[in-house]
Amino acid sequence: MNLSDDQIKAVNKTATNSSRFVDQAVIPKLVEEMANTDWRILDYGSGPKALHVHRLRDLGFNVVAHDFGNNVTTEHDPKALTRTYDLVYASSVINVQISHEMLRSTLVEISTLLDPGGVFLFNLPKEPQKIDFDIQDLILTLSEIFGDDIDYKKRNSSWIFTVTKGT
Ligand SMILES: C[S@@+](CC[C@H](N)C(=O)[O-])C[C@H]1O[C@@H](n2cnc3c(N)ncnc32)[C@H](O)[C@@H]1O
Repeated sequence: MNLSDDQIKAVNKTATNSSRFVDQAVIPKLVEEMANTDWRILDYGSGPKALHVHRLRDLGFNVVAHDFGNNVTTEHDPKALTRTYDLVYASSVINVQISHEMLRSTLVEISTLLDPGGVFLFNLPKEPQKIDFDIQDLILTLSEIFGDDIDYKKRNSSWIFTVTKGT
């Protein structure tokens, strides 16, 4: 991904270490419901402490963490982007992309990390959002990158997307 240091720093700053947000996060709960313990799972944009990863590992899931820039810590697997996964989830990550170009690069990177038939699960909270999201445009972009198997629903004030990569 071709991003400047300033772009990466701006996105890094969106992370919070508050366990209150972690307890409320919907995406890890959906991972619990949909995944099997033998699935290879990636937390993409896990934040410096990778708190969801710890919780899911405690429940027996096989999860590794990835982040970038100043948010990389010993929690992150330096080889995370060299493998493919059954499930990649991104909790409060897509909404903090700071340009449409960055959004597209991030989605393309995630698609390369999925096996055919693998699932990309993410939320799009109403706030914060760094760019204007048009849901129909986002669906079009997702279908160009991942294929047409896209499920989306509103849950409270967030959109939840489950995208299955085409074979
Ligand atoms: C708002 S925080 C969310 C952290 C965590 N997922 C959570 O639910 O609390 C967004 C995180 O995504 C990371 N991030 C955003 N875009 C990314 C990208 N393209 N590659 C790697 N990490 C990314 C940021 O660095 C930041 O740590």
